Formats: sequence, structure tokens, C-alpha cells
Amino acid sequence: MHGHAAPYGGTIWYITRYADVEAVLKDAETFVKDPANARDGKKKAGNGLMDRINRNMLFADAPDHTRLRKLVNIAFTPRRVEKLTPRIQAIADDLLDRVAHRPSFDLIDEFAFLLPITVIMEMLGIPEADRDKMHDWTKAIIAPGRFGIDLKGRKRRMRAFVEYLNLTFEQRRNNPQDDLITGLVQAEADGERLSEAELSSMVALLFVTGHETVVNLIGNGVLALLAHPDQLAKLSADHGLIDQAIEEMLRYDGPVETSTTRWASRDVDLHGQQIKRGDVVRVVMTSANRDNEVHDRPDVFDISRPIAEQNHVAFGKGIHYCLGAPLARLEGRIAILSLIRHFPNLSLVTPLDQTEWHTGVIFRGLKSLVLKTR
Ligand code: HEM
Repeated sequence: MHGHAAPYGGTIWYITRYADVEAVLKDAETFVKDPANARDGKKKAGNGLMDRINRNMLFADAPDHTRLRKLVNIAFTPRRVEKLTPRIQAIADDLLDRVAHRPSFDLIDEFAFLLPITVIMEMLGIPEADRDKMHDWTKAIIAPGRFGIDLKGRKRRMRAFVEYLNLTFEQRRNNPQDDLITGLVQAEADGERLSEAELSSMVALLFVTGHETVVNLIGNGVLALLAHPDQLAKLSADHGLIDQAIEEMLRYDGPVETSTTRWASRDVDLHGQQIKRGDVVRVVMTSANRDNEVHDRPDVFDISRPIAEQNHVAFGKGIHYCLGAPLARLEGRIAILSLIRHFPNLSLVTPLDQTEWHTGVIFRGLKSLVLKTR
């Protein structure tokens, strides 16, 4: 556990041990997502641009969190998600067929990113033709610095995004479809269940979390396999190991490095360390996943590690446990097995010690990973 002074007073804590990470994630009353619940004074009921994107369950505490999550839980259960298998497989095959005739391709841009973004857009009901502009707008929300977007450019993109969503909601109200956006619009009509800001924030959250993470599961996972040829050989010889392999990829080099911010709503003693009300708390998932007090040989990538011994927190824990975990697992399984089937001789063009990673504290992912197809 490490603490340092926060710019506006108090301390920022980084929680790194598995036991502490689990304790923080499971105690949603002490470690809250809405800073107003950790400060004295009145709650702000904002209605600005930021509010139209950030009023989502990931940044909410009960009872708002409970109400928002209930609205979408059903669409993401393992049984519902399993039904998407043939469509996800078709998207994966199509993307790989497009690069099959080439000697090399960029796994990140040409496959790992396109697969989950296509799936979540189809689930939401956003046409493929709007993909690039949707991505451009959401880049400005999640990591403007990473993409060299200044404050003005960020505001302009956020406004365009909200306008686009409002127009889409209007269209679905008039012409309902069999998609998630229609479901949410209909829920909004049902009394006090979803405000306008909550509606656009929900779609923004599902769109972003639906692809920004799985791209890294595929990218980091393929890199781990290629860096450990014995493990790749094991999986190629026995595709039945895929479920264990995906869990090991999530544990060994997971897509989300640090959780979103939490605030202490009261003074608390966390295994001997004093955390004060109002302090910022962030848990480091990738560190907890390699804790030698919990994991045997934590730095070894071993796809035959039994699932019961994985004990990873890659999807978080407690009330904010990843809504999309079943979908992410399914996409990961299909992506990795399809790659191995299409390209039995897959190898790295980018040398291992020259891989470039995105900076930033939340997502952990490669900028690109060029692979030889034969
Ligand atoms: C391998 C891929 C993924 C990883 C590693 C991942 C990881 C996480 C983590 C760690 C959290 C909790 C964050 C916190 O407590 O601060 C979370 C929450 C969430 N994830 Fe994922 N995620 C993945 C894929 C997805 C997908 C495909 C979706 C689909 C829409 C999704 C939707 C969400 C949502 C909506 C939440 C907020 C849940 C809540 O606050 O109740 N995620 N995810």
C-alpha cells in the first residue's frame, strides 16, 4: 500500500496487495465512487456536458448504482451472451480473412480493436458507418492526452457525441428496434428510472468499456503466448485449454491496470494503515494478480494453471464487478482460437523488447503488435 499527497489536499492511496485490494473492492460503503459521498456539504446535481457522459453506474453508489445496473444486467448474463457466439465467430473470421493473404498485419488495429467494437456497436444498435466518429469522440473522453486532444477539441467532440446520442434516442423512440438502445429508451420512458443524462452516460459507458478493454485482453494475451512458445504449443495442441488460458491471460497481464477512483467515506484502518475520510483510493489490479501470498509462481505464465487457483481480480470485485465479464471471456476465447486456427505459424515481427505500450494509469495495452502470418 502506498500513499502520496493529492494535489487538492488529502492523500492518494495505491493499494497493491491482493487482500487489501479485495477488502477495498468489496466494501462499497466505505470506499465510494461519488466524491460527494465522502465530503461534507451538499451534493452537486450537475447537468453540464460532463454530466451527460459521466452519470453512469461505474461512478455511482447505491441506490443509483443498483437501479442503473439492474437495467442492463439481463443483456449481459452468460446465457444471453452465449447466444452471440455465431455472430462473434463470423466477425472474427471475416476480420482474419481480410488479412490472410498478407505476410503480416497489425493485431491491434486490424483485429483486436475491430472485433469488440463491432460486437458492442451491434448490441447497442449503432451502424458500422458511424464507428470511426464514435471512436474519435470517445477517445476525447477517456484519454485526451494520449491522443493529443486539447481542451477545446475535447469539448467539441463531447458535444458532438451527446448530440449524436440524442438524435439516436429520438429515432428509437419513434422507430423501436431490437437493440440495447431501444431497451434503454423504453426504460427511460418508465417514470423515474433513467434520466436523460443517465441514458447518454449509459450508452457511452457500454460503448467504451465494451471495446477499450477487450482489445487489451487479445493484445496482451497473444503477446504472452508468443513470448512463451511452449504455452502456445500447448494451446495449439489442445484447444480445450482455452478457458484456463483466458483466465491466465487476465491474471498474468490484465487489460485494466488500476481501478477507477474511489474515495474513503470514513476514517478507516486498512490492515494497519490509516486512511482518512476524503482520501483517494485506487486499487492496482495487475499487482494484486501477481501477489506471492496468493499465487504460486506469480510471474510464471502457465495456461494449465487450474481456474480454481487463478484468483485474479482483473474484472474487479463487489458491486462494480465487471458487467461485461461473460462477453469479454467469450470474445477472448473466440479471438484467440480463431487466430491460432487461421495462422498456425503466427510469429512476432515486433521484437519483444521493442513493444510499445500506451501510457496512462487505467488501461494497459499495446499501441501495435505486428505479426507474421506464415
Ligand atoms: C477483458 C475485458 C474487460 C476487463 C478486464 C474489464 C474490467 C473491469 C473492471 C476491473 C471493472 C471494475 C472497475 C472498478 O471497480 O473500478 C469493470 C466494470 C465494468 N465493466 Fe468491464 N472489463 C472488461 C470488459 C468489459 C466489456 C466487454 C463490457 C461490456 C459492456 C464491460 C462493461 C463494464 C461495465 C458497464 C462496468 C461497470 C460495472 C459497475 O459499475 O457496476 N467490461 N470492468
